[in-house]
Amino acid sequence: MRKPIIAGNWKMNNTASEGVALVKQIAPLVKEANCDVVVCVPAIDIPAVSEALKGTNIALGAENVHFAEKGAFTGEISAAMLLEYGVKYVIIGHSERRQYFGETDETVNKRTLTALKAGLTPIVCIGESLEERETGETEAVLFEQIKVGLKDIEDIKEVVIAYEPVWAIGTGKTATAEQANETIAFIRKTIGELFCPKCAEKVRIQYGGSMNAGNCKELMAMEEIDGGLIGGASLKAPDFAAIVNFDK
Ligand code: 13P
Repeated sequence: MRKPIIAGNWKMNNTASEGVALVKQIAPLVKEANCDVVVCVPAIDIPAVSEALKGTNIALGAENVHFAEKGAFTGEISAAMLLEYGVKYVIIGHSERRQYFGETDETVNKRTLTALKAGLTPIVCIGESLEERETGETEAVLFEQIKVGLKDIEDIKEVVIAYEPVWAIGTGKTATAEQANETIAFIRKTIGELFCPKCAEKVRIQYGGSMNAGNCKELMAMEEIDGGLIGGASLKAPDFAAIVNFDK
């Protein structure tokens, strides 16, 4: 019922020319995909990668968007700037932005509302740290991130949520399929309570954190997991394609 969505998050890797070379390798490998395929790329790569994606089934995403329409925000990128290059998705509130760049649930909320208003699909990242998991705070942390980060959203099914346990990102330590499924079920239940149960059934929730060609089938087989947000493995065409083609 929910169409799976596999998205690459290149982070601060790949210059524009490297990015173009990568999507040229990926495109033929994923053209029979049954899921939505997205690459989220550094802002400066967007013009060149946008051009390279023409005629493919891969959609373009950004890694952040500012919440103001325009103005004195040196170094920031607006939704209109992204739209001009055919960007469809935008990652918001990645744990690296929360950790290193002062992103909070409040700024996540402002960016998400702005993205939706502009017609971009936000991929909103939430997830607990290792300490929070070990002290049994996972559900409380996620509840707060959802309550504040997704406040005032009219149509919650327009949002993609990425559950990324911080301890699983770039560490090679994946949440077990059962752990990921159970936590995503909690996220869906919370959305049901805060929005409506029917809409919660329609929201796509990805897993992210050391997802790769070897573990994607097991993760994607879980009932609650609707896709993946892929870091390291999205930088290699065969690996990313293997994840996109998880059902083949
Ligand atoms: P890795 O796949 O490298 O663990 O990164 C996950 C991630 O942060 C995707 O946004």
